[in-house]
Amino acid sequence: MSVAKPLPHDAAALHVTGAARYVDDIPTPANALHLAFGLSEIAHGEITAIDLSEVRAAPGVVAVLTADDLPHHNDVSPSPLPEPMLATGQVHYVGQPIFLVAAESHLAARKAVRRAKIVYAEKPALLSIDDALAAGAIFEDAPRHYTKGDADAALAAAPKVIEGRIEIGGQEHFYLEGQAALALPQEGGDMVVHSSSQHPTEIQHKVAEALGVPMNAVRVEVRRMGGGFGGKESQGNALACASAVVAALTGRPAKMRYDRDDDMVITGKRHDFRIDYKVGIDEEGRILGLAFEQYCRCGWSLDLSLPVADRAMLHADNAYHLEHVSIRSHRLRTNTQSNTAFRGFGGPQGMVGIERVLDHVAFAVGRDPLEVRRLNYYAEAGGCLPPTPPEDISGPEKAEAPPVQTTPYHMEVEDFILHGLTDRLAETADYGVRRAEIRAWNSESPILKRGIALTPVKFGISFTLTHLNQAGALVHVYTDGSIHMNHGGTEMGQGLFQKVAQVAAARFGVDIGAVKITATDTGKVPNTSATAASSGSDLNGMAVQAACDTIRDRIAAFLAEEHQADPATVRFADGLVHVGGATYGFAEAVQKAYMARISLSATGFYKTPKIVWDRIKGTGRPFFYFAYGAAVTEVVVDTLTGENRILRTDILHDCGASLNPALDIGQIEGGYVQGAGWLTTEELVWDDRGRLRTHAPATYKIPATGDTPPVFNVALWEGENREETVYRSKAVGEPPLMLGISALMALSDAVAACGDGTVYPALDAPATPERLLWAIERVRA
Ligand code: MTE
Ligand code: MOS
Repeated sequence: MSVAKPLPHDAAALHVTGAARYVDDIPTPANALHLAFGLSEIAHGEITAIDLSEVRAAPGVVAVLTADDLPHHNDVSPSPLPEPMLATGQVHYVGQPIFLVAAESHLAARKAVRRAKIVYAEKPALLSIDDALAAGAIFEDAPRHYTKGDADAALAAAPKVIEGRIEIGGQEHFYLEGQAALALPQEGGDMVVHSSSQHPTEIQHKVAEALGVPMNAVRVEVRRMGGGFGGKESQGNALACASAVVAALTGRPAKMRYDRDDDMVITGKRHDFRIDYKVGIDEEGRILGLAFEQYCRCGWSLDLSLPVADRAMLHADNAYHLEHVSIRSHRLRTNTQSNTAFRGFGGPQGMVGIERVLDHVAFAVGRDPLEVRRLNYYAEAGGCLPPTPPEDISGPEKAEAPPVQTTPYHMEVEDFILHGLTDRLAETADYGVRRAEIRAWNSESPILKRGIALTPVKFGISFTLTHLNQAGALVHVYTDGSIHMNHGGTEMGQGLFQKVAQVAAARFGVDIGAVKITATDTGKVPNTSATAASSGSDLNGMAVQAACDTIRDRIAAFLAEEHQADPATVRFADGLVHVGGATYGFAEAVQKAYMARISLSATGFYKTPKIVWDRIKGTGRPFFYFAYGAAVTEVVVDTLTGENRILRTDILHDCGASLNPALDIGQIEGGYVQGAGWLTTEELVWDDRGRLRTHAPATYKIPATGDTPPVFNVALWEGENREETVYRSKAVGEPPLMLGISALMALSDAVAACGDGTVYPALDAPATPERLLWAIERVRA
């Protein structure tokens, strides 16, 4: 069967030979126009005068548009609050699009943009979390608050209370292919749009609004992205709308792609966070009560910030059973790029918060952080709860309560596997022995210090906006037995198309080569959700399975009738169809069905069961299930320079019954490196005027191949999803990013080795060489 096989990515050869077609590779008609935005140079203010005469006069310029020239909606927001494509009098961040140039070439458009003369009346800009807090600049009326138990009482009663703060930087997506869109005008005012987008339906919706036409007049096609990582969930709207508007106004095809620097200056990033914590513990490091304040820098507009901030709250427990907990979330408005989805969607920030707490607690009680982590884990699935906390906190009735363990949002944790998984990983990575060796080595090494950490991941799978958990598919079988497969998911390198094709091949019992993977197309499967929340293969795999089964069952019913057999006994395997005593080749069976006028085309649909969620109250079951994993990272730090590197990484990750172990391991390796990059080298720096100074690879340091751990052992946990997902697999796209938290904690361990055990390193992220040096100074003081 074709599922569970480590087959290569369907486009692997195309990727490495350069033959894979991205939006910018689609041959453009000779009369195509090329677009560029003119950007705000200030962080906040009013446009008092705008002179674009020299822009219009520049060589090759065909059209210049401001907000007033737009035919219909000027709104590219994915949220209920408006977000203009072109500024309307006010500007809110450096890099905000103000006007649009259409020219005969990409270079002509970019050069023309620079000739604008804009006069601003500058206003004070809110740049930092502190600025926003001082000004009371928050989205929503009040901070969101999720609680369980009584955190205040538990903190008051705890034998020991620790307080701390961690600052967590944002992250640039750095997809290798920048944002791009191409609009091709059709007859009668219809529009076809090719977009590098994780969300073709949203592009269709926004383009229809921008043109003032119904959605059925717009068709959006996405063959693939050169990486999305959440940065193409909403941030492609502006380019698609701009291209479509110019195409509609001029009747000429129009293409827009951001140059890398523009891409980094214009688009939103991972939200940076500040997390304050107050934790009450006993002598062994058991958490008795915990209060978090999460401060989240959203940028100038809402975009996806509310659900991102929600997911940070939903991962504030990670793997730990918290009886008395309070999580407050402050969504702050600043005059910076509008932060957006990024792999993990806020989950990683929430998880760094609690992992930091565990690291701090372990330091405070002088124990191995892994022991303290395990002490606080949820109970194993089917097992019993960890020891109950002291009487005065739990109360007498709690002690008799049935062993139900819930998250801070009151969802029962039924599938916890991290005890067994941690045991196995600690053993294969030789954690205990290496930790002792590192201690001994450090005592002999005054300059270089090593550190090690094992951190777990528990990540919730499903969109927290419940209605998004649906998907559709369209499958055709042609008379030669070849199969055309389409679904609403998009391909961004993660291997979704390959996995789902393997499902289709398995349903028909044919070789994977019989299944044609086709571009995502709003004309084939409508009303889709973004490919996001790691749910691509869960949702689309099931929808494709349903469509294939419909066709297969029709063929089976027809053949069974011919052979007077029970349809349930018809078998599709190894390219053959067995019915009664007879055997047909798959194509032969299909041909017979066609001649008998059996429909060989079907749609499929799936909606995730069991989920209910009240995001305001913070109660329910937002997730169908959890994906688990753990990583051990060992690092070495040069205490004179702060220079550091990862020496070895061991990972054990849970993909349920993997649909494709090769692709899943690829996701785990890539996710880990991207997570470690976020927390170590990737630093976003804005100057005091709100200009992003790190807007190119020269200044923004993503991990390079040379930063891959020299020893990198990745294994899949053997098990299957206890929930009925497609072939009992689990989602893998985002969870492994959070395995990278072990790199930050290993660095904390190395820094701690520089002191005498009295001062906690309190390392902020990213742990750049500068921050490491500051932390080393702190622990030595
Ligand atoms: N892997 C690659 N190679 N490129 C990407 O852009 N995006 C990640 C993850 N893995 C991404 C990736 C993100 S943010 C998500 S939500 C999932 O893939 C989306 O795909 P899936 O739902 O099919 O896993
Ligand atoms: Mo992923 S951040 O959900 O696109």
